[in-house]
Amino acid sequence: MSIQPRARLHIPQDTHGPRTHTCGALRREHVGQEVVLKGWVDTRRDLGGVIFIDLRDRYGLTQIVFSPQDDPEAHARAAPLRSEYVVSIRGTVALRAEETINPKLPTGDVEVRVHDLVVLNPSDPPPFTVSAHEEKQQKTSEDLRLRYRYLDLRRPELQRNLTLRHRLYQATRRYFDRHGFIEIETPVLMKSTPEGARDYLVPSRLHPGKFYALPQSPQTYKQILMVAGFDRYFQIVKCFRDEDLRADRQPEFTQIDVEVSFATEEMIYALMEGLMQAIWKETRGIDIATPFPRLRYDEALRTYGTDKPDTRFGLEIHDLSDVFRGSGFRVFDDILARGGHVVALNVPGYGDQGRGYMDRLDKDVVRRRIGAGGLIYFRLPSDGSPTLSSVKEHVLPTPYVDAAVQAVGARPGDLVLVLAGPAPTVFEQMGALRLHMGQELALIPPPGEGPWHFVWITDFPLLEWDEEERRFVARHHPFTSPHPEDLDSLFDDPARTRARAYDLVLNGYEIGGGSIRIHQPELQRQMFHLLGIDEAEARQRFGFLLDAFRYGAPPHGGIAFGVDRIAMLLAGGTSLRDVIAFPKTQRAQELMVQSPDTVDPRQLEELHIRIVLPEED
Ligand code: AMO
Repeated sequence: MSIQPRARLHIPQDTHGPRTHTCGALRREHVGQEVVLKGWVDTRRDLGGVIFIDLRDRYGLTQIVFSPQDDPEAHARAAPLRSEYVVSIRGTVALRAEETINPKLPTGDVEVRVHDLVVLNPSDPPPFTVSAHEEKQQKTSEDLRLRYRYLDLRRPELQRNLTLRHRLYQATRRYFDRHGFIEIETPVLMKSTPEGARDYLVPSRLHPGKFYALPQSPQTYKQILMVAGFDRYFQIVKCFRDEDLRADRQPEFTQIDVEVSFATEEMIYALMEGLMQAIWKETRGIDIATPFPRLRYDEALRTYGTDKPDTRFGLEIHDLSDVFRGSGFRVFDDILARGGHVVALNVPGYGDQGRGYMDRLDKDVVRRRIGAGGLIYFRLPSDGSPTLSSVKEHVLPTPYVDAAVQAVGARPGDLVLVLAGPAPTVFEQMGALRLHMGQELALIPPPGEGPWHFVWITDFPLLEWDEEERRFVARHHPFTSPHPEDLDSLFDDPARTRARAYDLVLNGYEIGGGSIRIHQPELQRQMFHLLGIDEAEARQRFGFLLDAFRYGAPPHGGIAFGVDRIAMLLAGGTSLRDVIAFPKTQRAQELMVQSPDTVDPRQLEELHIRIVLPEED
């Protein structure tokens, strides 16, 4: 084998020294100064033998000019410059000609007339245009952008979002520091936690057949820290959940995790409202009013059809069960007899909609998207003529229709939408229809603009019946304290027991959730029992916590916020991917590094793992 002599490497030297300014800095007052700028070629125009380039960095754009009159050599060397070349230039700041001033750019009054250029690195033609000029940005598939994430991240929008996220972190740290909280890291290689999702597992080389689990949250550790006497803890922490992904869910996401000893709900609410004020002020300069309104879980469900209501608009749900009782309409009678509900929404200004619209709403939205059995509706024409019911009069008599119209406060020109079914499903379906109508009526402001409707959701049920597993599961997690007034019902009527749990909801997103915890070993043991976790399993999984509780565990409680969701809402994004540097796709892949990926068979052997692939269909 012969070794080919290598061509001499040509490595361009940056002879300019450090930059004197960023690409967002130059103004009129710099005219006449000699400057050094470094950045990427955003756009290039050739006009009358002169080359104009917008030079970009994360601070902005500056127009640089290569003219044969100013400097023939620099002009000649600029000829090969293309998009995304990274260059250093030395030049003189000049006022632009009046007609070429660009009022949209902060640097738009000036340009730099270049007399020396160093190409620090050329660029292949990028797979999509990266420009900071909005009009130049192409519609490209998100997959391509994620594959070349380093190019996508050069866009001002993503740079703004990540900068905002940075400010969010700093505001959080400052706030907690001011309030005597200590930031403590907890292990990433840990043991399975019960947050309800599937765990990501890490095989152990030293302990064949055993696995670490990545934390779904640091829940048990932060409680142990309370037992250890760190009465105010916080952490900005990565959490991992192998669950079905949506626009507001990522498999690895970041929490602001908080725990407080001797806590009451009021204490947590006040501290966290202060945190939200600090974050909004320091990232967006926005003042948030406190205290935040509160809504009981059952009120939220009955009024908005969800435990994360968007309270920026009305369109509240009305329960018309009593209005329709005894109407003789079979559909309603059957559902009411089985304990179900008839619920309605009054949509102002939609009373003149024709049959075509109503049929589409019924078929495409109510049945197909929302999954309800069918829509019943009453149209109140705007000319004041009699109400038009979708159910014939001999089937649903007019007095019942009129009573319903009155109960929801409908007026001529309004449309009353009605669904019937078992609770909570029918409320949830109406909640989805409410959001659809809110969107259609343009009642929902664009993301990022406010108003900012924070609301605490309180009094959650402690438990939820899992039909598949035929047992109760914790609605929040098994460490949540039952409401003291409901302790008696814990065993007689578990489903009715309320939890000392709360969520913070903002504009229809659950941005945080927490609870006052159980701190007595006996109650915790009872709780595991109720959840069908037997003594042996409780010991194996949570023995450390039960043990810790035997050594003077203080009463405590806390909360965790979804940083990605908060950042997305602040940034006005619609997907968590807008505010995460290297996010995962719906299929939990990271397209730039191509993870997950296969590994070397030797690694598997060391880990005592054999792969059994599912059979292909
Ligand atoms: P919870 O499971 O409610 O509580 O999570 C807290 C907050 O984290 C955010 N979140 C997510 N964000 C993005 N992607 C996900 N997959 C995801 N899952 C959750 C939400 C949510 O409100 N240990 C408890 C907290 C406590 O009791 O103190 C916990 O993790 O904004």
